[in-house]
Amino acid sequence: MIKTKNITKRVTTSEGELQILQPISFDVKAGESVAIVGASGSGKSTLLSLLAGLDQVSDGEIFLDGAGLHDMDEEQRARLRGDKVGFIFQSFMLVQSLTALENIMLPAEIAGMDNPQKRAQDILDMVGLAHRGQHYPNQLSGGEQQRVAIARAFITNPQILFADEPTGNLDAKNSEKIEDLLFKLNQESNTTLVLVTHDNELAQRCQRQLQMHAGELTEITENATDTMHKQAV
Ligand SMILES: Nc1ncnc2c1ncn2[C@@H]1O[C@H](COP(=O)(O)OP(=O)(O)O)[C@@H](O)[C@H]1O
Ligand SMILES: [Mg+2]
Repeated sequence: MIKTKNITKRVTTSEGELQILQPISFDVKAGESVAIVGASGSGKSTLLSLLAGLDQVSDGEIFLDGAGLHDMDEEQRARLRGDKVGFIFQSFMLVQSLTALENIMLPAEIAGMDNPQKRAQDILDMVGLAHRGQHYPNQLSGGEQQRVAIARAFITNPQILFADEPTGNLDAKNSEKIEDLLFKLNQESNTTLVLVTHDNELAQRCQRQLQMHAGELTEITENATDTMHKQAV
């Protein structure tokens, strides 16, 4: 579902060129759940943005479901995102001037889907917020806002869902609800799930764990004796 070949990211800063990501190559299978862990500033969000087509690689190749993201311009990437990708941010990123229902409808309207309002109402129900459709984001708790953001990410039935620290701004109780919801949707819709997290328990719920360290990605594997060792990917 995702294939990357030697992708790197460099940016130009006032102090010169900064290489954020060292060449990274790895694959994610359809339906897999993968956690990316690592210290703050190690490059996790940068990698996720590249994989989701929100940003462009400096070198290397990324294929999403066979489509070469690295060859696309912004408009083509936007279309691919609308078709295949859902994204959940730590800070929710809801449109403050729209109600919960309208926020969820938006991607379906942009994609030209039939009955966006009915779909939005159904999915709002699925995330347990049927009674909150007419509320604005600032009238909702953090956990509720993140559930709206998840509903918005899922309304187009994306094949791949990216989540950047989806529980980073939530308390323990709300985190658990959000996690349960993510894995429920991952399993029921067979969505590929790639998430960044600081939370070791959340990482362990994923089938695979990858570690980012200073722009280098390694796979964390458990061997037969259950001791952890790292293996370059
Ligand atoms: N556009 C940019 N310009 C300059 N530095 C950046 C830019 N984007 C990210 N960085 C730097 O790259 C490093 C990795 O950032 P990020 O991917 O956000 O890390 P993480 O998500 O793991 O905390 C950080 O040191 C950050 O300051
Ligand atoms: Mg980050």
